This record gives sequence, C-alpha cells and structure tokens, in this order.
Amino acid sequence: MAWTHEQAQAVLAEQGQEHVLRFWSSLNSEERAVFLEELEQVDFRLVGRLIREWVLSEPPEERFSRIEPIPLIPKVAGDRPDAVEAREAGEEALRQGWVGLFLVAGGQGTRLGFEGPKGAYPIGPVSKKSLFAFHAEKIRNLQRRYGCVLPWYIMVSDANADATRAFFRSHGHFGLNPADIFFLKQRMMPCIDEKGRFMLAERGRLAMNPNGHGGCLPAMIENGVIADARRRGIRALSYFQVDNWAVKVADPYFIGYHFLRNAEMSSKNHWKNHVREAVGVHCRCDGEYRVIEYTELDRYPQLLEVDANGRMIHGAGNPAIHILSLDFVERVVRLYDSFPWHRAHKKIPYIDECGERVNPPKPNGYKFETFVFDALRFIRHEPVALEIARAGEYTPIKQFEGDNSVTSAWLRMAEYWAEWLDAAGSPVPRDDQGRPAVRIEISPEFALTQEEFLARAAGRVFPTDRDLYIDPEGNLLSAPAAQ
Ligand code: UD1
Repeated sequence: MAWTHEQAQAVLAEQGQEHVLRFWSSLNSEERAVFLEELEQVDFRLVGRLIREWVLSEPPEERFSRIEPIPLIPKVAGDRPDAVEAREAGEEALRQGWVGLFLVAGGQGTRLGFEGPKGAYPIGPVSKKSLFAFHAEKIRNLQRRYGCVLPWYIMVSDANADATRAFFRSHGHFGLNPADIFFLKQRMMPCIDEKGRFMLAERGRLAMNPNGHGGCLPAMIENGVIADARRRGIRALSYFQVDNWAVKVADPYFIGYHFLRNAEMSSKNHWKNHVREAVGVHCRCDGEYRVIEYTELDRYPQLLEVDANGRMIHGAGNPAIHILSLDFVERVVRLYDSFPWHRAHKKIPYIDECGERVNPPKPNGYKFETFVFDALRFIRHEPVALEIARAGEYTPIKQFEGDNSVTSAWLRMAEYWAEWLDAAGSPVPRDDQGRPAVRIEISPEFALTQEEFLARAAGRVFPTDRDLYIDPEGNLLSAPAAQ
C-alpha cells in the first residue's frame, strides 16, 4: 500500500527532513500522490548515512601506499597468436548467442547545448543520424555477420526515459526487433544542501539526480535484465557509454580475451593524450584494481609522474568500455552496500521557503553517485585490461568543440574512414595540415572494419571531392561538389 501523509511525515520527522512537506497544503490530490510515491522510493537509511559521513563531516580521504600501472594486453595487431585466438573465441561466443549489450544512456545532451537524451544527438556529420542510430547500425551488422541476436539493454533515467522510448519508437527501433530492446530505469538519489537537508525541485517534488552509472548494477537485477539475459543463454554483457560514437560494441577480440581468461569484468584502456586528460586512470592501488577519476588526480600526485623519457607512467585511460559476466553482476550486487559513493558539489536549482525558484550562481549542494568501474575492486582474479588505439574506437562526445568534442570526433572519424577510401582506390583530398578536406561518414551497418569495407565496396570508386555518406546498403549520398 502506498504511503499516507502521516507515514511520510513520521519518517521525514525522524530524519530531520520534514521541511519538504512545507507546501503540502497547496498541492492538489494528484501532486500529493506523486510526491508520496517519490518519498517512499527514497532509501532513507542510505541517504542518512551519506549525509552524516559526507555532508555533516568531511569524508575520510582514501590513501594508498602503493599505486602501480596495470598490466595491459597490447593492442591487437596483425596475426599475433593470442589475438587470433581471442578473435576466434569471441566470434564463437557471438555465434553461440552468449553476448548481450548494455548501454548506459541516463544522461542528457545539456553539455552539448542539446535538449533531449544525449543518445538522440545528431552526430552524423552528413546524415545527421543520432548516436543511437549509429550504435543500432553496428548491432545490425554484427547480427548479420554472426547470425545471432544481440539483446540490447539500455539504461535510462527519470530525466530521459520517456523521451528515449519515444525516440526509438519514432525511428522504428532503427530496424531492430523491439522484443530485443529492453529499457530499464536507474534509481534516483535526493540532492542534499550544504546543511544536510533535502532540496525541493518543485513544491511537491524533491530535487533528485540519477544514482550514477554504478546504479546499473542493482538496476540490472531489479529490472529483470539478468533474468532475461539468462533466459536467452547470455553469459556476459558488453558495456558501453552512449557518448562514445566510435565504440566497437561486442568487439570479438575483447569478448574472446574475456572468455578465454575466465574474467569477471574486463576493461579497455587507451593511452592518455596527456597526464591531465579528462579521463579516469586504470591502476592497481595496494593490490586492488581501480579507476581514479580525473577529478581526483591531485590527491594522488604519483599518477601525474612521467619516466626518465618523459613517458607517462600511468597512461592507461578509461574509455568506459567493459565486459561484465552475469555471475559477477549477481555477486557484486550483493556487495553494493559497500560500494563507494562519490560526491559532487553542484549548482542545484531549488524552491526556497517562499516557494520561489532559485538558480544558484555557485555550487549550493551535493549530488551522490556510484561508478560502475568501482566494481573492479571486487574481482577475484586478474582482469582483462586490453589496450586499444583511439582511432575508430574512442571518440567521446562531451562538448561541442575542443577536447573530446563533436567537432574533434568528426575529424577523427573522417581521418579513420579516409584511410578506407584511400585503400579502396578513392583517395581523399587533404588540407594543408593533412586533414581530410571533406566530411566523411560510412554507416557501420555497411562496414565495421576496413577489411569489410573493401570486400563490400568491391572495386567501386567513390567521388571524394565533396562531403560523402555511404549508407547502410552502400548507397552513396553526397552533397553537391563545392563550386
Ligand atoms: C566518464 C568516466 C571517465 C571516463 C570517461 C570516458 C565517470 C565518473 N567517469 O567521464 O572515467 O574516462 O567517461 O569517456 O563516469 N550515465 C548514466 N547515468 C548516470 C550517470 C552517467 O547513464 O547516473 C551515463 C551517461 O549517459 C554517459 C556515461 O554514463 O553515457 C558517462 O557519464 P559522463 O557524465 O559523461 O562521464 P564523464 O565525466 O565524461
């Protein structure tokens, strides 16, 4: 039975949070019902602990006596025997239907100046297709190639769940079978002001934030993802972030290493561009695997050190690409209570005592999140840590311009695809800095690799004097040549 006003009042009073009911008498019955339901969902025991430990007192800082680089499997290249073996094992796992896909897409496109789910961002430089469409085309390619079904589990948040579902519907689920697409919602956490009090986003709504991508772990159990995956015979989930346009979903090499080494959780790593690049760092701290967030680098100055040749010692950046075995997810969710929480000091709009909306000019409260990579500390044996090249694998979209942006991703992908066109006998003109002089886009459904592109293009010549887009069927859609 849903909470009554009296029950809510009693619990809130016990927690010192009864101020959130200040506008109760002005709410209509529908608003009251929604508010009670929201309050009932709050894990007061957890939030109370976080307030005591993280807001009302300074949290203890973690210190390590020894931070070491992690051993990386070198980038797969040519016909190195371990890589060939991994690819074959990964391809077999795909054919057997042991692999599902898990996408974290709880974020909004705000940092891109875009209203709506980040995955709906029109990233295609020529086609204007969305990030979701690109990922879907990769899936269609893999399903065709391996004759398998790759169920796609997509984690959304309260902020974008309806919009994301509607986007998939209005795009015909990008040609995928809707029965193989599964949306799940992560939980929300109340935002807390600097005095340890809940904040109101509206007169009858708490200010809340999604509980971080670490929230995908309990959400997988609570929403039946693991049960559905087990029914389908899935053994591991290929995990990726919606904002990495280039990500190789269900990469056979990565899957192969994961299965051959009987790993619980595997991670890809890319060498950082510079010590301060805004990515987490994979390392081993007092024997435990960790990702230290870029925002925490100053607490661990060792992570900024370079060797005698000026090379970074801790260059293993975290592109947030993992494989998670189902058994491991089930085990680690039982340990979720001991997951570390991360606190972010943010500007949180709120409703003040007079019922007025305030947009604070500086940070005024805290958001709490857990991170999926903190699961690495619970693995029982050596994980797979595979080094990757950035080209064609890692083009995160964090902002419109600058580092890790839309414009840098367009350029990186144009460089990557230009090599395919060059190899196919359609050389791409370069500008005076050696960059492709036209915009290029090749649908990942048509080809995921240069090898596949050459085979499917079969001697065709493409006009490269203008922007070009090769669509899923290999049709060429090009803009008129520049005059
Ligand atoms: C993240 C990683 C960083 C990594 C980088 C790679 C964190 C804390 N850090 O940084 O180590 O090097 O990506 O690109 O994640 N998301 C949810 N629900 C949430 C929060 C996030 O689904 O509650 C999803 C977002 O939609 C996005 C992804 O997680 O797809 C990453 O979130 P974002 O805030 O962009 O992380 P970064 O700070 O860029």
